[in-house]
Amino acid sequence: MFYIAEKNLNNCKKCGACDEIVACSSMRVGYVEECIGCGACFITCPNEAIIIKEKPREKEIKIKVNGESFSIPEKITVKKALEFIGYKIGKFPNEGDLFVPCEVGGCWSCAIIINGEIKPSCVTGVKEGMKIKTQLPKDYKPKRLIHGWMGHSVGGVGTPWWLKKGYGSIEVATFACGCNFRCPQCQNWTTTYCGKEVALTPREAALLMTHTRRMHGVNRMAISGGECTLNKPWLIQYIQELKKLNPDEKARFHIDTNASILTKDYIDELVEAGMTDIGPDLKGLKLETFMKITGLKDEKIAEKYYRTSWEAVKYLINNYKDKVFIGIGIPYNKDLISLEEIAKMGDEIYKLDPEVQVCVLDYRPEFRSKILRPSYYEMVKVWDILKSTGLKTVICQTEYGHIGPKEPSLSRFY
Ligand code: FES
Repeated sequence: MFYIAEKNLNNCKKCGACDEIVACSSMRVGYVEECIGCGACFITCPNEAIIIKEKPREKEIKIKVNGESFSIPEKITVKKALEFIGYKIGKFPNEGDLFVPCEVGGCWSCAIIINGEIKPSCVTGVKEGMKIKTQLPKDYKPKRLIHGWMGHSVGGVGTPWWLKKGYGSIEVATFACGCNFRCPQCQNWTTTYCGKEVALTPREAALLMTHTRRMHGVNRMAISGGECTLNKPWLIQYIQELKKLNPDEKARFHIDTNASILTKDYIDELVEAGMTDIGPDLKGLKLETFMKITGLKDEKIAEKYYRTSWEAVKYLINNYKDKVFIGIGIPYNKDLISLEEIAKMGDEIYKLDPEVQVCVLDYRPEFRSKILRPSYYEMVKVWDILKSTGLKTVICQTEYGHIGPKEPSLSRFY
């Protein structure tokens, strides 16, 4: 099946996302004649003004893959061409011949050599005579797109509660482009779906982060996303480089993650590289809730991500809680998850470790979602419910800042 993107002008609000964020190789999103059907604009458009249509097979062109010639339809992506000739596309690392988790050109996990240059195969179009090599050289320096180098006054879910001031900078943060989730309420969608930045090596990114640390005079350096774990070689090398550039004992290397591909080996490598703080998200106790929050439609892959994230939290707590600071993130919005499910999540986390930090994030209307932001009082109720499970370190993000773990009982407010 081959596809083409078209703009539905009735829905288009001229927000500019398709021109400024989408890595459209034709550089003219929705321009039917040049569209390669990568789907990045369809994934990104906050107004759902892009329609993907099936198109008839185009005329054939010739390309070479690892020295072998193939005839493939023109105006498709390199990823699609590889699929066409029999490559298997994976949504989990090491499953399939090519790992393609974000499909918007952000993570560069799908990068291969195209006409001598390393490029993401998911958003690069095929051309007559193109030469593709699917094996990257051993000395390959991974790259990925990164956004923003900034001071942060509350940090992320993996930031210890006692540091969250709400003013000034307590850590510096950067955000990796590309995500394997499709959360309708994504709070960071312009980064998550960005395919139009300069791709950086781990060393380049670590130098920028070190500079940002110095500018803000803090010790904590965080990376979030999008999903920062998608490109494993990049992330491991980034933390190693960051540690080399920041050898002092006060330096903290923090990642916030959806934990969906964080296998045990991956966690071991992150700790070995120097990671000191981690904020894994658990987006529900039921698979149904997880799929609603993440926007994932494929139940098989959703289940794999869901199970991996819970397993990752268990593994982290059982093996690294004395070495790495762990702060678990869970979502709340009454339209996405019930209070009963929140209570059950609290029970499950309590069984793992009653002391672990649990940070509840108030999910609000962002990107495509029309949900309402939970009120302060709703978040107080969530806080009380989680505390009643026996968890000692519950914090809740609210419109008026965080409710900390040491607040007196707040039940009187509702
Ligand atoms: S899957 Fe191609 S850049 Fe992320």
